[in-house]
Amino acid sequence: MRNVTYDNITETVVQAYASTADGRTGDILALLIRRLHDFVREAKLTPREWEAAMAFLARAAASTDEQRNEFILLSDLLGVSALVDLIDGRRDKNASITTLMGPFYVPKTPVILNGADLSGGNDGERIVVYGRIRASDDEPLGGAQIEVWQNAPNGLYAVQDPDQPEHNLRGTLHADEDGNYAFATAKPISYQVPDDGAGGELVRAGGRHCWRPAHIHIMISAQGCRRHVSQIFDAGDPYIDEDAVFGVRGPLAVPYDQQPSEKELTRFADIHRPFNVANVDFVLARA
Ligand SMILES: [Fe+2]
Repeated sequence: MRNVTYDNITETVVQAYASTADGRTGDILALLIRRLHDFVREAKLTPREWEAAMAFLARAAASTDEQRNEFILLSDLLGVSALVDLIDGRRDKNASITTLMGPFYVPKTPVILNGADLSGGNDGERIVVYGRIRASDDEPLGGAQIEVWQNAPNGLYAVQDPDQPEHNLRGTLHADEDGNYAFATAKPISYQVPDDGAGGELVRAGGRHCWRPAHIHIMISAQGCRRHVSQIFDAGDPYIDEDAVFGVRGPLAVPYDQQPSEKELTRFADIHRPFNVANVDFVLARA
């Protein structure tokens, strides 16, 4: 590679990594180098623009620590996280669509009874979320583990807010033997992803905003199935069509203002009234 030129640089660099020991890593690297070089060529990136890009990444690194990863946020804001999830979801066409896990998941939250009310001392309208969980071959997933988490009426998740009880508005429940699950909670609200770092710079440069429509996070685990990560969105939220991180999927946007039927009032007789209902079934991909 003594004489590197505009015309041979891409193949020269690809060849330099040709001995990458791991096959998959080698394939990804070669593709990355080719596409990255094509991008730089097509954009005719100037040295000044390249320096600005490197400084931008350095600012993202500076605001990254154990609590916060600005690179994940940049991936979210550019739709890359959503694309990776959408590619993964294509493996089983009969399964429900999944979406992003987000940064606020906490493992091993307290176990609550199926049908319990998580709303506690939180303000906001009460909503009963219920449905049935089955596998993509139609087998009901009795005993499936369901972890839920969401923000409080101040827009913050418990993990972000020392003034909230440690496990406010999150918990782990298990479906009954037919795969039925239910829980009541306080209606979550729309919130902004952090805008005080490189992610915020990107969003402002693009004339966008950092808002996410209100949603309840849910993660379902069952024997013989792939872990299912989802969010249940408020279809009536003003940001439902402009989620900052491109996480909304049509089937996951449901009305949060649905009044319960007589049957639902009877079924959820133990839940303090008034409440709205959201009926959401989940179909898990087989492992
Ligand atoms: Fe969230």
